Parts: sequence; structure tokens; C-alpha cells
Amino acid sequence: MKALILNEFEGPLEVVTKEKPEPKEGEVLVRIKAAGINPVDAMITNGYMKDRMKHHFPLVPGWEMAGVVEECGYGARRFMNGEEVYAYARRPEVGEGTFAEYICLPESYLSKKPVNISFEEAGSVPLTGLTAYQCLFDTGKLKQEDVVLVLGASGGVGTFAIQLAKYHGSTVVAVASEDNHTYLKELGADYCIDYKNQDVEKEVKNKFKEGVDLVLDAVGGDTTEIGVQCMKKGGKIVSIANPGEDIDDQVDFTFVFVEPNSRQLDHIREIIEAGNMKVPMQKTYKLDEVKHAFEQILSGHTTGKIAFSLN
Ligand SMILES: NC(=O)c1ccc[n+]([C@@H]2O[C@H](COP(=O)([O-])OP(=O)(O)OC[C@H]3O[C@@H](n4cnc5c(N)ncnc54)[C@H](OP(=O)(O)O)[C@@H]3O)[C@@H](O)[C@H]2O)c1
Repeated sequence: MKALILNEFEGPLEVVTKEKPEPKEGEVLVRIKAAGINPVDAMITNGYMKDRMKHHFPLVPGWEMAGVVEECGYGARRFMNGEEVYAYARRPEVGEGTFAEYICLPESYLSKKPVNISFEEAGSVPLTGLTAYQCLFDTGKLKQEDVVLVLGASGGVGTFAIQLAKYHGSTVVAVASEDNHTYLKELGADYCIDYKNQDVEKEVKNKFKEGVDLVLDAVGGDTTEIGVQCMKKGGKIVSIANPGEDIDDQVDFTFVFVEPNSRQLDHIREIIEAGNMKVPMQKTYKLDEVKHAFEQILSGHTTGKIAFSLN
């Protein structure tokens, strides 16, 4: 199979021919059609996570995908050959990722692909869609009557967070560059704030005097503290980009690291198929365009999602 591999951290990513994996007991072999690209892929290849996660070389990066079931291992009975699936494919050891033509995954990782979107779109949902879902609903306990502030609203996670929160009936305040405000409104944001030219806390408090119920921080750094200042008394902040070491103990703060969850992917599929969530794609790339793809994701200014197309 064709795969993108890395032989050492910070080394070049190369497209090579590699042996196709074979499904073990309980695993499914999937022919990958598309794989979403995320900031974490560049962080892994740069070695940023090397002390935090077990890994092996040659390392195939990529943590999400959509494809077609090609073979089921012994005891794997949930899917049939030819079924279209999608998955968040983070395994305990980093090495056999989704930037390849095939992957073997435990069947419990897989969910049926939404029928009404392309493979590129479906392959771009699992990681960021589950992140938004788990932050808002599992950790954030978002209620319909709540106001949620999304920091980093135009990126992969923010794009799904806005739509999931609106689907839930909540009010959404979205923070991103002004150029992206039409995009945020189209996704359903009730209010938009430009972090470059506006004082985010002041704008939030102008609209909601007491502050917001929930903050989803997808930016980290100094932005997390801005989020804390925007919370109402008794509010929560959930960050995916700041581990929270410097956050005051009195603040209801949680760092979330997204977990694979095929039941939640089933729910996300239902939301997409009912027309309540779309997957805006900024661009798709071929594997040999990895340099441009990683430059884009490392820019920190991707609008919606980017993906590798392996068709
Ligand atoms: N812990 C986890 O499980 C987990 C899961 C997924 C992602 N993450 C992390 O979460 C972060 C976001 O991921 P992503 O996939 O959404 O990234 P992304 O697609 O690259 O989007 C980043 C977005 O942040 C916006 N932004 C940049 N600086 C900002 C600021 N100061 N204030 C408000 N918005 C700002 C940009 O908007 P403009 O272009 O409009 O400026 C851009 O759209 C990354 O650091 C990623 O590694 C963590």
C-alpha cells in the first residue's frame, strides 16, 4: 500500500510502498478513502508528543479517516465487507496512522459513514467532531438554555462546536478573525467577535452582563485567561489546547483529550444525515502534497477542515 512515513522526529515525510496490514482477532481492515489533517499530526511529526505517547518508526501519522471495509478479522462481526465507515483512529501507540491506503482497527473504533457526505468530508469529522461533542456535552454538560463561548471558532473543532451547540438549542458566541464572521454566521453562530480588533471580554459582557455559562477554548496560551474572564459565576471552561497548570484552583477548568467513541460517532452521523451539521472543506490534498498540507495546518488559520484524498 501507499503510505506517508516518518523515520525520525522532524525528519522528512515520504510517500513509500509498505506492506498492507492484516486484521487480527476483532479487527477490521479498512481501505482508506480520505483522512482529515489536524494540528496534532504536525505536532507528532515535530516530536512534540514524543515523551507523552508510545510510538514506533517508521511512523505513519494521521488520526482520522473514512473508507470501505475490505476484510474482517476473526470474531469481528459488526461490519461487512464493502460497508462505508469512519473512525477516530488514535491507538495507544502512535505508528500505524491514517495517512495510508489501509489501516487495521478494532471494530469498536468504527462507525458507519454518514451517507449524505463525501469520503473527504466524512474523513474530516471524527477527531474534531468528537472533540467538540465531548467538550460540550460530556465535560461541559451544556444545557439548551446556556450561552457558550467558542474561542477558535472557525477552525476544525470550532466549526463542529458551533453546529453541535446550535443543534442542542444553545446560544453561541464565536470568536475568530473578522474575515471568518460570515462563515461563523452560516454555521449558526448568534454573535461573532474579532479577537484581533476587539476586546473579547468587553464584547461578551456587553451582550451577557454576568458572562457565559461555558467556554470552549480551542486556542490556549493567553487566550485561556480571556475565556476565564468571560465566564459567569458558576460557569465552566473546557480547554483542548491548555493543560491548565496556571489556572486558578477556584476556576471550574477541565482539559480534555479526545477519546475514540463509536457510539458518539453514530450520534454525529445521525445529526449529519438529518442535515443539522455540515463539513466545510477548505482544501483536499494528495499524499505527496504533504508539505503544503502541513504548512496550512501549522498556520493556525485553517477555516473548516483539510484532508488527504486517497481515492
Ligand atoms: N485536546 C484534544 O483532544 C484536542 C483535539 C483537537 C484539537 N486540539 C487542539 O486544539 C487546537 C485547535 O484545533 P483545530 O483543529 O480547531 O485547529 P485549526 O483548524 O487550525 O483552527 C484554529 C483556529 O483558531 C483560530 N484562532 C487562532 N488564534 C486565535 C485567537 N487568538 N483567538 C481566537 N481564535 C483564534 C483561527 O481562526 P482565524 O483563522 O479566524 O484567525 C483558526 O480558525 C489545536 O491546538 C489542536 O492541537 C486538541
